[in-house]
Amino acid sequence: MPKMEERLPHLVEQLDGWIEKSKSLCQHGKVASYIPELAKGNQAALGIHLIDGYGNEAMAGDASTVFTLQSISKVFSLLLALMDHGEQLVFDKVGMEPTGDSFNSMLKLELVQPGIPFNPLINAGAIAISSLITGASQQHKLDRVLDFFRLISGNEQLNYNEAVYQSELQTADLNRSMAYFLKDKGVIEQSVDDVLDVYFHHCSIDATCKDLARMGLLLAYNGYDPIRGKQLVPKRYVQIAKSFMVTCGMYNASGQFAIQAGIPAKSGVSGGILTLIPGAVGIGVIGPALNSKGNSIAGVDLLEKLSQHYDLSIF
Ligand code: DON
Repeated sequence: MPKMEERLPHLVEQLDGWIEKSKSLCQHGKVASYIPELAKGNQAALGIHLIDGYGNEAMAGDASTVFTLQSISKVFSLLLALMDHGEQLVFDKVGMEPTGDSFNSMLKLELVQPGIPFNPLINAGAIAISSLITGASQQHKLDRVLDFFRLISGNEQLNYNEAVYQSELQTADLNRSMAYFLKDKGVIEQSVDDVLDVYFHHCSIDATCKDLARMGLLLAYNGYDPIRGKQLVPKRYVQIAKSFMVTCGMYNASGQFAIQAGIPAKSGVSGGILTLIPGAVGIGVIGPALNSKGNSIAGVDLLEKLSQHYDLSIF
């Protein structure tokens, strides 16, 4: 198998063809509607954007679609919490293990480590992580979150999507019940409303595949931004985040994705997937039609096909 640099130009040339091969799967998925505003997603869309460490970019399909980060944001709120507090405090609040359950399950909250969510990528874990974002006021916390996403995406225009935020706020009974449980156990120390406000806000940041690709590139380079020539996040924290992406990033389909694609990835219910080729490329995918596990049905297929054809698995 030729080296990665030799395989990439071929992958880029064939990108439209790969989209065509996976796109028909969109009709077999379902756009998320439990947050009503997400139901506006385009069932038929499939797009991809790649960026390498020299700033070369390639895109295909519906890559310019704007969508909210949803659970993809959990990787980066974890990084911000690690930067704010260090490993020890963060892992007092969340565990390091996959659950094998759906992202919004409460089933294991009372097991093993009572009250402590199994990992930071399930909803309960991400809510606990949101409580760790520091700031002098609620507004300061929200500003810090947005500033961090702007920094790591290199996109000063990133913003909260108010309509999705409101929609999520109004349909949040399950997340709210988890947050109250965590507060009762002392995992969350602040007001439930304030913590959820941070959580819903980071889930409702608007982005495109290019933004995901740029954030993926930062992870691919272990926290170093090769385009600006700056270490933005400590390497150790990025290694932690990528480990979670491999073990929990695709929810209770993470094992299957590790076997079929073998690249660290994080999905969100709006149909985005952020992934990367270590040391080489950041990748963003959008495909709002989801499979039964809440991952983009065509996006997963596209990444599995690319990985198998170009031998991208890290294993
Ligand atoms: O809390 C929620 O349900 C959403 N803000 C995030 C869910 C999500 O993206 C999980 N998905 N696959």
